[in-house]
Amino acid sequence: MAALEKGNSPFYPNHPVPPEFFVGRSEEIERVRERGIRQVANGKMVPFYIQGEYGIGKTSFAKAAQQLGEAYGLHPIYCSVGGARDLSDFSAAVLQAALRSGGLNTTKEEALRNWLGKYIGRQELFGFSLNMEVLRQDAPQLSNPFGLLGFIEENRRRLNATGVFLVVDEINGIADSPEFAHFIKGLVDSAEAGQSLLLALCGTEDRRRRMIQNHQPVDRIFDIVEIAPMSQKDSERFFEVTFSSVNMETRKDAVSFMAYWAAGFPKIMQLVGDEAFWTASSNVVDLDVAVQAVNRAANEVGAQYVDQQVYRALRSADYRSILKKIAAHDGISPDIMSFRKADVAGALTESERKKFNNFLQKMKRLNVLRSGDVQGEYRFNQRMVALYIRLQTLQEGS
Ligand SMILES: Nc1ncnc2c1ncn2[C@@H]1O[C@H](COP(=O)(O)OP(=O)(O)O)[C@@H](O)[C@H]1O
Ligand SMILES: [Mg+2]
Repeated sequence: MAALEKGNSPFYPNHPVPPEFFVGRSEEIERVRERGIRQVANGKMVPFYIQGEYGIGKTSFAKAAQQLGEAYGLHPIYCSVGGARDLSDFSAAVLQAALRSGGLNTTKEEALRNWLGKYIGRQELFGFSLNMEVLRQDAPQLSNPFGLLGFIEENRRRLNATGVFLVVDEINGIADSPEFAHFIKGLVDSAEAGQSLLLALCGTEDRRRRMIQNHQPVDRIFDIVEIAPMSQKDSERFFEVTFSSVNMETRKDAVSFMAYWAAGFPKIMQLVGDEAFWTASSNVVDLDVAVQAVNRAANEVGAQYVDQQVYRALRSADYRSILKKIAAHDGISPDIMSFRKADVAGALTESERKKFNNFLQKMKRLNVLRSGDVQGEYRFNQRMVALYIRLQTLQEGS
């Protein structure tokens, strides 16, 4: 079968996964349901921090949780504040997100237009453009805790919801600003009984620590949901469920092979799945397809996510055999982020050992490695680089 006859790939290497393809994380989802959604539907405010590294699945998790919240009558507002530097950027982003939160629901869409119509500029072919000038003028009203809480409550009332589930994603930039930490603390303190708001901030652990540095009491306000690498079992289910959604069959050995090399990392799962989808020449994903797919995904990771200077160094003949031994030393361990110099040195040949120090220095200079907490330990600064190194060893072996 030619690729042309195929429909759309059900894989999303570059987008949050649509809730219907979301797998795993069942404990974390339950926790948000019990401690968050149910409480908020009964008139409480609950602040969560969805914490994890780049590409681990925070946004996907937040969206899946919002969809679950809808079953309890919570209205979802998804707001990415990646470009926000101060509170007025932040509140403009929340206002825009609220305006667009009706989605495909025409009743909600209409209620929002009636309420916030003055921020709508022009009707376009698909949806509408915003009147940014007016929006920017009014946004500061949401830059103080009472203003935002009142806005949220009005939103809930007009949409006839039991509460609002507000996701604030990509807080990387704004977490630096001390006023943001004070604002969030103020928001939590100012909520009165009956304020139905589930607030979920998404970011890395160091951004949360930065907020605490900026305002110590932030330390105690969040219920933290840690998004970790997935289990092999969840990854396997991901491949089975996603391929079967497009009527493709998966062989057991192929599925466990792909899950093993994805190392619990959802972004790699999606890349590998996508490659397998396009590689398969029938509707069966067998081991042969899986091996090709992982090899292609390795190249993708190298080309897309690894800095080109680093990429060239990692591919140099001198270093490849050393890298292979670094990747091999911890086998299937989910933490592929660090190694001990002595462990690796023990596995090196005489000539590799001569290049090893030089290699470590160069990797530190390129900001790939840093010294760990323990003497003789090295840590990778980026998971994608560590994953690439691991994936590359498959290519070496074949
Ligand atoms: N639970 C999941 N099931 C399937 N794919 C997922 C899951 N979580 C994340 N992904 C995929 O992993 C990649 C990164 O997810 P994303 O939610 O954007 O991560 P983050 O927001 O932490 O950077 C995306 O390609 C997404 O489709
Ligand atoms: Mg994200």
